Amino acid sequence: MTKRGAFICLEGLDGSGKTTQAKMLAEKLKDGYNAVYTAEPSRGKIGTFIRKHCLYGKKRLSSIVEALLFAADRMEHVETEILPALQQGRIVISDRYLYSSIAYQGAAGLSIEWIEKINEHALKPDLAVFIDVDPKVAMRRLKPNKSVMENLETQQKVREIYLKFVEKGILVRVNGNQPKNAVARELYIVVKKFLDTFH
Ligand SMILES: Nc1ncnc2c1ncn2[C@@H]1O[C@H](COP(=O)(O)OP(=O)(O)OP(=O)(O)O)[C@@H](O)[C@H]1O
Ligand SMILES: [Mg+2]
Repeated sequence: MTKRGAFICLEGLDGSGKTTQAKMLAEKLKDGYNAVYTAEPSRGKIGTFIRKHCLYGKKRLSSIVEALLFAADRMEHVETEILPALQQGRIVISDRYLYSSIAYQGAAGLSIEWIEKINEHALKPDLAVFIDVDPKVAMRRLKPNKSVMENLETQQKVREIYLKFVEKGILVRVNGNQPKNAVARELYIVVKKFLDTFH
């Protein structure tokens, strides 16, 4: 029987370099592993709805409705993409996952316990990494088509919540305030160390 693959997620502020790093990591891991890149919101029906109505829509839905949609999209993502890939023994790298909901909807004022509750059926990642970038740096990196979730005050609150999960040992912090290749090297060391002891 194939060994179950490993589930890794990358978290961080908008503009912190998650997509850049997740893709670089997936490429690097292809040498020796069967790695696959995936992202949230997912490519499924609910993920598509979220991108249209929550990230770039003019009229925001309430934080509660958004949190429920993200949780629903996550379950669909787990069932249709993440679990099947893990069952094939692949390494799944998800660009955002559960901790994005906790940090963003938590920063919007919702209880973290409730966000965890509605996500309780979502598979726990085997390794969760926080790419930590100064919110001002992250803002500068963003293109003009920023989504509605992005302003400095929100980004600072989001970072504080992520850091609480670093303190608890749930997220592993990587310093994202460095050139892309240096971040990639630091991330790779964390991931390799994890993979060498996985199973
Ligand atoms: N270490 C870095 N130094 C400088 N610029 C970077 C670095 N990493 C990424 N960038 C640039 O910053 C921008 C945002 O990066 P990226 O899209 O990877 O961030 P993200 O975390 O995925 O953002 P979002 O949450 O908005 O999807 C891109 O133009 C990217 O090329
Ligand atoms: Mg991205």
